[in-house]
Amino acid sequence: MSETDTPLAGVIGSPIAHSKSPALHGHWLRRYGLEGHYIPMNVSRENLADVIRMLPKMGFAGVNVTLPHKEAMIGLADVITDRAALIGAANTIIFRKDGKVQADNTDGYGFIENLKQGAPEWRADSGPALVLGAGGASRAIIVSLIDAGTPEIQISNRTKSRADALREEFGPKLRVVDWTQIGTVIEDAATLVNTTTQGMVGNPDLRLPYEGLRPTCVVNDIVYTPLRTGLLEEAAKAGCVTVDGLGMLLHQAVPGFERWFGMRPEVDDALRAAVLSA
Ligand code: ATR
Repeated sequence: MSETDTPLAGVIGSPIAHSKSPALHGHWLRRYGLEGHYIPMNVSRENLADVIRMLPKMGFAGVNVTLPHKEAMIGLADVITDRAALIGAANTIIFRKDGKVQADNTDGYGFIENLKQGAPEWRADSGPALVLGAGGASRAIIVSLIDAGTPEIQISNRTKSRADALREEFGPKLRVVDWTQIGTVIEDAATLVNTTTQGMVGNPDLRLPYEGLRPTCVVNDIVYTPLRTGLLEEAAKAGCVTVDGLGMLLHQAVPGFERWFGMRPEVDDALRAAVLSA
């Protein structure tokens, strides 16, 4: 491979210093002995459009996009995948050979793959899902659960109007549950997902009526700092299979890496360790 053909990719956000993506992609590049570089880039909103048009001219095959640019990226792309359009945000950008900028969203894919790996017996269609929170992560997860065949999604958010807006948008499979009424539905849940910031380092743990949790419910927290949140500890006590949030970050990176660097990478313990120690 000549010098100019060395594949380049990276991650664009602001701030970007704490992004785990460079460690993640760097681990895979080293592990598979691939030529290539993955570079963190701090880009402001006002420069985003210029940077996105310039990167392919500099040899970039694509980039990840993170906060706060995920929604804005939709308006800057030439081609938007169905799932990115449904979620209303993009995290994986492909600079195509035909010159078009393609925006995809692999967050929901990462969520589903993490559940499949962490709880191999989990089935999307085994019963209702209870999703806590109604922000961007919740949107991606709802889209992926509907796509995977979950029959009903109960959504509960501290600010109910945001959950109502998701119900309006995504339709009758969603049922809004008052934040104070989670106890009335928790026992129906086959899948429970926390997408709120509660339980993250510096925030108090979620306080839920855990006594209603059935041991057959698979419980996932997308918070991964700490890895074992209060929610996961309580769920484990109730006999549930628990899945931590780190895997969603790792799995969402797979499609981009494969596209940019030409090899489908594995999500395994060595990757987890590399990302955790970064
Ligand atoms: P993201 O886009 O990363 O999902 P977000 O849009 O900031 O993040 O959403 C954060 C989620 O955490 C929201 O559902 C938020 O609830 P509100 O919509 O009521 O703000 C939820 N959240 C934050 N602090 C919370 C708290 N103290 N109790 C319950 N939910 C909380």
